[in-house]
Amino acid sequence: MRILVIGSGAREHALLYAMSKDPQATDLHVAPGNAGMSEIATMHPLVVDDPAGAVALAKEIGADLVVIGPEVPLVAGVADALRDAGFAVFGPNADAARIEGSKAFAKDVMKAAGVKTASAEAIQPEASDEDIEAAIDRFGPNWVVKDDGLAAGKGVVVTKDRAEALEHAKAVLAAGNPVLLESFLDGPEVSLFCLVDGETVVPLLPAQDHKRVGNNDEGPNTGGMGAYSPLSWLPEGATERIVTEVCEPVAREMAARGCPFQGLLYAGLAWGEDGPAVIEFNCRFGDPETQAVLALLESPVAQLLNAAATGTLADFGPLSWRDGYALTVVLAAEGYPVSTRTGDVIEGAEPGREADGILHAGTARNAAGELVSAGGRVLNVIGVGDTLEEARDKAYETIKTIKLEGSHYRTDIALPAVEGRISI
Ligand code: AMP
Ligand code: GLY
Repeated sequence: MRILVIGSGAREHALLYAMSKDPQATDLHVAPGNAGMSEIATMHPLVVDDPAGAVALAKEIGADLVVIGPEVPLVAGVADALRDAGFAVFGPNADAARIEGSKAFAKDVMKAAGVKTASAEAIQPEASDEDIEAAIDRFGPNWVVKDDGLAAGKGVVVTKDRAEALEHAKAVLAAGNPVLLESFLDGPEVSLFCLVDGETVVPLLPAQDHKRVGNNDEGPNTGGMGAYSPLSWLPEGATERIVTEVCEPVAREMAARGCPFQGLLYAGLAWGEDGPAVIEFNCRFGDPETQAVLALLESPVAQLLNAAATGTLADFGPLSWRDGYALTVVLAAEGYPVSTRTGDVIEGAEPGREADGILHAGTARNAAGELVSAGGRVLNVIGVGDTLEEARDKAYETIKTIKLEGSHYRTDIALPAVEGRISI
């Protein structure tokens, strides 16, 4: 199989590495990719949200399968254009990608499917100050204020401070976007990734992300600073509950609406006293959870994604997993997520170190050919072990060997789980 992966982060690097171990993946291509992928795939330039450009590239390569990593091309209709041109695509069409792209659409689908989620109220940009204040006062004492557009987790403020909630709502509205206010969902967060091809839903192992920039969940939200899998603190049967209570009903509802989901349905949940409630859906693999989850998956990943892309998931058979745990830590550039500095030289992370657990996210080559930072999240370091502690130790040992001036990472990824501090 000749496979084209669209995207450029550590998630796409993890997908490429996982597929490179599948004997049926004979030829890997990536667009636009990053500097760390040069040993594993042929790199091509691409503007990721340009459907015509993606089709032209897939034709040039003669791709048997196109795997779309990020949400931006999915929302922009890149999967539609590729499918129309006859390619097998892993990733939903634009109408199905609304499950991530429009929080209002996601709420509507959940309501129709009877899926538990936070109650929500939208405020439109034309609302008066009085209306905004009144809406704010219908929520609290924990406010959840969201930008109803794509903001990669960064458009959300969760706060106990009414003034901060109001300020964020006004800022989003001033930018011309609707605001979504939500009731606060209590309980530890779970990310469950499900392969979906219409109505067949195949779950991967549950993972937990760490979204705040600092230790102890302090500081602003980011795209994700680290993750681990599986989650030993979840009750037995948790994955099956999420599949039957959340993912299958949503997949059925979307199919019934004429926008069947094909690709990766990511359920972001809070596990409360009564079980799972949905915080959000994403229409693609999560980053950085994927890097941990795929490190444990032993089934042939290219064949698995191809089965989802061609509607044959039901025949794929059970997935096989390595016992134990995987953990990933994100090495971020100076200033991330507030004012990221890029262009700094990276030492100790040359391409080709996937087996050591080093994946690239925001990296590039400078004019002198040196490896440099080119984004907020620069590298991902993965550790795998029989215990979560061992996985942690391995990842942190490796990350210490990498040099990037001004960089930072959380030192407490999975620590609450290791110390038994997560309870439901
Ligand atoms: P989102 O972009 O919707 O995933 O939100 C980013 C983060 O904000 C989530 O991962 C949660 O940590 C938090 N969050 C969002 N919505 C809620 C909610 N209704 N209750 C509690 N926390 C939330
Ligand atoms: N890890 C959060 C996300 O991928 O949206």
